[in-house]
Amino acid sequence: MIITTAPNPSERINEQARKLAAELSAKVIPRRNLSIQKLIEMSDNHRTIIVTEKEVRFYDNANEPPLYFHPSMAYVRVKRLRRGETDPLIELSGCCEGDHVIDCTAGMAADSLIFSYAVGESGRVDALESEPILSALVREGLANYQTSIPDVDAAMRRINLLCRNHAGYLEGLPDNSADIVYFDPMFRQPILESSAISAFRTIANMDALSAEVVEHAKRVARKTVIIKENQRSGEFERLGFKRTHVNTSKIAYGVIHVG
Ligand SMILES: C[S@@+](CC[C@H](N)C(=O)[O-])C[C@H]1O[C@@H](n2cnc3c(N)ncnc32)[C@H](O)[C@@H]1O
Repeated sequence: MIITTAPNPSERINEQARKLAAELSAKVIPRRNLSIQKLIEMSDNHRTIIVTEKEVRFYDNANEPPLYFHPSMAYVRVKRLRRGETDPLIELSGCCEGDHVIDCTAGMAADSLIFSYAVGESGRVDALESEPILSALVREGLANYQTSIPDVDAAMRRINLLCRNHAGYLEGLPDNSADIVYFDPMFRQPILESSAISAFRTIANMDALSAEVVEHAKRVARKTVIIKENQRSGEFERLGFKRTHVNTSKIAYGVIHVG
């Protein structure tokens, strides 16, 4: 993989690119006037990361949009929470201020951000992402992305993003050591086939959630274990979750109350 910068980078951006390259075992290439197409061709696995002043972008196809951290839908959902409205994930999980949440499938950390806002300064959100490129993109985004709302930025900064597979992580935790354990694995049957998520799919962990991991989650959680899936999925029954369909959406949540 190649890591480069936007043209005319500052020393801070050069340093960020060098650090990411060391972390991801990638090669740093000076940008000069190289096009994204050319960079992708030069990369041994067609993967290229471009560090800019604003964000860290991942490309594996010059004809498709790059992948980079953006709070997107989470921003809309947090703004609803700020207005005193509810969010189905917060309601169904029973999440309260001060809770400790383990988000076992961080992805772009949208759900982690909702949890982080809901648990507040006295709570804690550990977000686990097994894939190193995704974990690095999201970690940098959570640390640097600026919205126009300071308490939303603070909620992003409080998320503790770890590059870990949830299986080994949960196995190593004591009983009753968190309030909520959450899973949003890549759906067995995807709802959306859009180019906006195709770069994400190339680097995400596509494994199904195992029954053994759910048993560890039930041991670790004090309140609830919760899963998000395609509403038609058989995963709810296979893994022992009670399916709750969210109106107007193609997804459903599955909840196990352990408290
Ligand atoms: C559907 S996405 C999660 C989206 C996320 N809820 C959000 O709001 O952005 C699933 C993510 O979980 C990660 N993942 C899948 N299996 C995992 C595992 N065993 N341990 C840690 N992360 C995993 C995938 O790489 C992917 O990034």
